[in-house]
Amino acid sequence: METWTKVAHVSQIPIDGGGCVKVGEEQIAIFHYDNGEWYALQNRCPHQNQEVLSKGLLGDTQGEPKVACPMHKHTFSLKTGKHLGGNPCMHLKTYPLKIEEGVIWIDLSHNQALAA
Ligand code: FES
Repeated sequence: METWTKVAHVSQIPIDGGGCVKVGEEQIAIFHYDNGEWYALQNRCPHQNQEVLSKGLLGDTQGEPKVACPMHKHTFSLKTGKHLGGNPCMHLKTYPLKIEEGVIWIDLSHNQALAA
């Protein structure tokens, strides 16, 4: 069952940047990529369990949008949460996201984690 939760207004997330929202005990990083796409992933970097990914730098690798952790620069796909350094134990959960009338909604019931 879908459980869409209103988490923020689009004006709260900078273009080509991110922001963090807390839903229950979960911190979720929301990114507004400069091509207009939006992504939601866990905010916790699995490298040292720091809640910092929303402050990461955005970029791309061969067209794959990514975020680099601000701590030690591990990179992750914004689309899939995959650790782009190839460590299957460091993939991120991703969340379905939709925008309606300027409001950002996340479906917490369908977070998706890649298999390790
Ligand atoms: S805590 Fe993210 S790369 Fe080290």
